[in-house]
Amino acid sequence: MKIFNRGSELQKYALELKRSGKTIGFVPTMGYLHDGHMSLIDIARQKADVVIVSIFVNPTQFAPNEDFDRYPRDFDGDIAKCAEHGADVIYAPEASEMYRSDASTWVEETVLSKPLCGASRPVFYRGVTTVVSKLFLLAQPDFAVFGLKDAQQCFVIQRMVRDLNFPVEIIPAPLVRDADGLALSSRNRYLSADERTRALSIHRSLETAKKRIIADRSCMDAAVKDAADAITAAGGRVDYVDILDCDTMKYPGSGSCRVILAAAAFFGTTRLIDNEIFDL
Ligand code: PAJ
Repeated sequence: MKIFNRGSELQKYALELKRSGKTIGFVPTMGYLHDGHMSLIDIARQKADVVIVSIFVNPTQFAPNEDFDRYPRDFDGDIAKCAEHGADVIYAPEASEMYRSDASTWVEETVLSKPLCGASRPVFYRGVTTVVSKLFLLAQPDFAVFGLKDAQQCFVIQRMVRDLNFPVEIIPAPLVRDADGLALSSRNRYLSADERTRALSIHRSLETAKKRIIADRSCMDAAVKDAADAITAAGGRVDYVDILDCDTMKYPGSGSCRVILAAAAFFGTTRLIDNEIFDL
């Protein structure tokens, strides 16, 4: 397995691979890898000649009051997991390597990124689209795999790739959960045992709401409100619970559409997100 710290070296290597006719599959991550991340690497491994994984805690997608400084890191563990799952290349730059101190160019998606996490984390998606654009230019992938744990992120990246003509196919991958239903997340390690138990209310309440909405669409608003109340009753501080059309990220119209029922809530100081995607 090759490990690059310099973007210029990764880009040179990737361009050589492309010239020799190899396909490149790419999995961008912020590290502290768990089985959710590994499922993306497995998908890339099945489809590509060469699998590149990036490990970079991207400072531009964190607001000053967020957890950038304490975001969990385990580089050696991550490398071992990537090797086990057959990744070929790791790209792990320092922030100073990724961003020049006078960098002044951003990539911004301006519609799908606005509600949900975009509303409560105003700088988040601009940081994500900028770093993912840079990573695509460095890794030169034919396709990149994104998890539906962060479904809005996946939709925003798909729109960015469409609008800016990136020659990269975006492959959405299913959300991976622990046996008890909690969505796997690097941030789960912040949770105390009690908070973790309470946090199960997110998935449970979204599932209940989804079943009610599928059975009777007219109860959509009530079901969304009840889900938020159930998370609050379990001790969570709800950031949002909302249902939106996946294509527009607006409130679903009366026709049939694919919807995302999404929630974000704090348990203690830890902000967790989860979602259900289904057809209306
Ligand atoms: P990170 O949170 O490390 O996630 C990296 C990728 O793993 C994302 O595509 C995310 O959706 C996916 N992932 C995380 N948990 C998952 C789970 N339980 N099931 C399935 N997939 C899961 O998302 C980021 O990093 C960053 O924003 C990044 C795209 C790397 C840009 O900095």
